[in-house]
Amino acid sequence: MTKRIFLSPPWMGGDERKLVEAAFDSNYVAPCGPMVDQFEKDFAAFLQRPSACALSSCTAALDLLCRELDIQRGDSVFCSDLTFVASIAPAVHRGATPVFIDSDEQTWNMDPDLLAEALADAKRDNHLPKAVIAVDLYGQCCDYDRIESLCASYEVPLIVDSAEALGATYKNRPAGDAGWASVYSFNGNKIITTSGGGMLTSHTTALVERARKRSQQSREDHIWYEHGELGYNYRMSNIVAAIGVGQLQILPEIIRRKHQIFDWYRDALSCIPGLTFMPEASYGKATRWLTVITLNAERATPDATAPTQDVFTVMSALERENIESRPIWKPMHLQPVFQSAKVHGGAISKRCFNAGLCLPSGAGLSQSDVERICGILKLTLS
Ligand SMILES: Cc1ncc(COP(=O)(O)O)c(C=O)c1O
Repeated sequence: MTKRIFLSPPWMGGDERKLVEAAFDSNYVAPCGPMVDQFEKDFAAFLQRPSACALSSCTAALDLLCRELDIQRGDSVFCSDLTFVASIAPAVHRGATPVFIDSDEQTWNMDPDLLAEALADAKRDNHLPKAVIAVDLYGQCCDYDRIESLCASYEVPLIVDSAEALGATYKNRPAGDAGWASVYSFNGNKIITTSGGGMLTSHTTALVERARKRSQQSREDHIWYEHGELGYNYRMSNIVAAIGVGQLQILPEIIRRKHQIFDWYRDALSCIPGLTFMPEASYGKATRWLTVITLNAERATPDATAPTQDVFTVMSALERENIESRPIWKPMHLQPVFQSAKVHGGAISKRCFNAGLCLPSGAGLSQSDVERICGILKLTLS
């Protein structure tokens, strides 16, 4: 059997191992240490933000933001419908009622018109959300200007979940450079990985500092253990941060490769009738973290709650060749756990899910790997 092609495996540039060794040599085999400081410094500089806090995961970062906002039972939180469950889970764990906002057809990200409608409804009901969580999906920023100004006009904090979009831009602003705070993931399949990890950033330094303190059990500045409030054990470890320092250095090369891979797919597959690529908005530059396609989207039946037969057929054909592919996120409003949640719109995210497929997009893919994958798609769809 040929070597398995994974969807988006880690791609190491070379210095990561040396940096991990340096972390070992320093004996900071611990949460905190010089590599954590370095990673935070480099990351904040990359995003042109005053500070950043490195954490054990992006979910932890979102949880700390929910804690900061004191989200609790009775509150509502608006969130992109088409996302991974971690975008909203921390708020729901705290008792919040989620309200989902469908995607814009042109970007697959939160539709600002639907957000405007949802905020106006909430204002009328005297129940504005505690936060809006807008997701930058599959390496593409949502419409920051419009979403930011809507949130500002209702005085609702905007959290940008940029877990999937590090390195993308919005009108020359870095991904996540919007709203009250933003979060990033370094999970194993993300554009850069630390095996697992996350980052919280904001233009408000005091917010980042409070998150940092809470991520270390909210210890007060005393020589003994003193706690004025309860915190968490959410800090990133120094060993893991060493990988992050090395990965961030090669982010431009990873993005270059992701674009190259997307171009190979586009050149080979554009001729297939009914096959389209995730659209790229004119306001920015996507990273193409994953190359995402839809297959015969117009044929997807509006009441289906699973991927179409075309998607299953292609996935199985790839799997037979030991190649991993994956359906698009199942929208939150279709998740059994959120069956009673309110959704504004829902048809676009559902159609993306029904007809969508994420193709292997690891930065290490060669042109011949992509040609082989495209050959299987062509054969299956002909
Ligand atoms: C949009 C989105 N938000 C949040 C997360 C959670 O990130 P983590 O696994 O680092 O907690 C992920 C991915 O894992 C994600 O894709």
